[in-house]
Amino acid sequence: MEIKKLSALTTAAVFILMLIGAYVTQSGSGLACPDWPTCHGKIIPELRGPVLIEYTHRVFASLSGVLIFLTSYLVWKYHKHDKNLSKLAVATPLALVVQVFLGAFSVQSELNPLIVTAHLGIAITIFGLLLSTTLLLRRQI
Ligand code: HEM
Repeated sequence: MEIKKLSALTTAAVFILMLIGAYVTQSGSGLACPDWPTCHGKIIPELRGPVLIEYTHRVFASLSGVLIFLTSYLVWKYHKHDKNLSKLAVATPLALVVQVFLGAFSVQSELNPLIVTAHLGIAITIFGLLLSTTLLLRRQI
């Protein structure tokens, strides 16, 4: 797949992931899996109710994570001489690493409002970085 298309797909995946995250919050499912990275001590828990909602967020986050690393790697490989794209290719995976830890801390801190708010802030940041990458690749900004 072309990088331009991959970057657009990754941006769309993160947008959907953010909606799933909002649904986790609004449905009160944030502590349905009280541990991390396992859920009730299992890699695949019994998938129903709030556990299904929280688990879907985790699985979708993992898939989006793979897409983010792949996109950033390819942007770095083919556009490292572009000042803006090379910065985005470094910043995006770094923000992802911070985000995964904030997701885990959200659970471990029993949804401490500061940590959950930081998790939202980094989600918006990752989306912004990916959208900028996609638009720069298409020479639209
Ligand atoms: C790229 C990765 C991720 C993105 C973009 C993302 C995004 C989001 C967003 C936008 C929310 C809603 C926040 C709100 O409504 O204030 C959310 C909630 C949540 N996320 Fe993530 N997330 C990611 C990865 C993870 C991971 C790996 C975990 C691991 C456990 C996780 C755990 C949670 C939890 C527990 C909530 C609900 C918090 C609550 O109930 O208040 N997230 N996420």
